Amino acid sequence: MICPICQEKLIQKEKSFQCVHSHNFDIAKQGYVNLLMSASKVSGDSKEMVLARHHFLNHGYYDILKNKLEDLIQEYQPEVLVDLACGEGYYTKGMAQHAKQCFGIDLSKDALKLASREDKNSQYILASIFHVPMENESVDVITNIFAPAPLEEVERLLKKDGIYLRVAPHVHHLYDFKRILYTEVYENEIEILEHDSLKLIRQERITDEILIENNQDIQDLFMMTPYYWKSNKDSAQKLEALEKCKTIIDFDIQIYRKES
Ligand SMILES: C[S@@+](CC[C@H](N)C(=O)[O-])C[C@H]1O[C@@H](n2cnc3c(N)ncnc32)[C@H](O)[C@@H]1O
Ligand SMILES: [Zn+2]
Repeated sequence: MICPICQEKLIQKEKSFQCVHSHNFDIAKQGYVNLLMSASKVSGDSKEMVLARHHFLNHGYYDILKNKLEDLIQEYQPEVLVDLACGEGYYTKGMAQHAKQCFGIDLSKDALKLASREDKNSQYILASIFHVPMENESVDVITNIFAPAPLEEVERLLKKDGIYLRVAPHVHHLYDFKRILYTEVYENEIEILEHDSLKLIRQERITDEILIENNQDIQDLFMMTPYYWKSNKDSAQKLEALEKCKTIIDFDIQIYRKES
């Protein structure tokens, strides 16, 4: 980790991190550290969104993805793993078990409070994934799950031959769920990222069908998707009385290697 003010290395001193110029960053009681410059106004997911995702994921609906990610990290055995836009650390926590050191970066304080309370193996950092307070070429594996892809930072942070693992919705992700909300439903588009030194070396598709068995879980899923923000009142009302919902889940895992 580096100081966001002077870019010198940060060293842990009891309950804070400090650089040689005595810039000091306290570790919150839950364990995360705030390395956001105070002028930054951006904020990540709200408490409401974080709690909805936390409840939904902890009911195990996406465990097929969680298990796959843990297997992949075990295969790559990174010394340093960084999960960019880690949210409340649902995937980070399991992946951290297969890395020597693990960092989770997110802009949402509410997400990091939960993450750092539940996972003491990782250091959670409040920062933007577009300005990561870590040294150049210091990371073996970067994960980036359901979040924007900060390719410049990925390239800067990765060691040579480092791995960038990105998860995005595959074409049919939540297809049946969307059919409840909309009359016309489109398939998701798959995007292969183009960047000078990042080469796609592997792509895996994980598909399953889940049965959501109560309205609270359906509402939580709705809130963690972009449809929550895009849907009109009519669509939201269709979910109000729904007690069960069977839907396809469909994930695209793309693995890139930094070539030079
Ligand atoms: C859809 S959630 C995914 C969270 C987690 N990866 C997961 O799959 O459970 C997107 C996350 O990105 C975070 N986020 C959005 N923009 C960000 C940014 N510029 N820097 C850091 N985090 C950001 C949000 O706070 C949120 O936690
Ligand atoms: Zn400093």
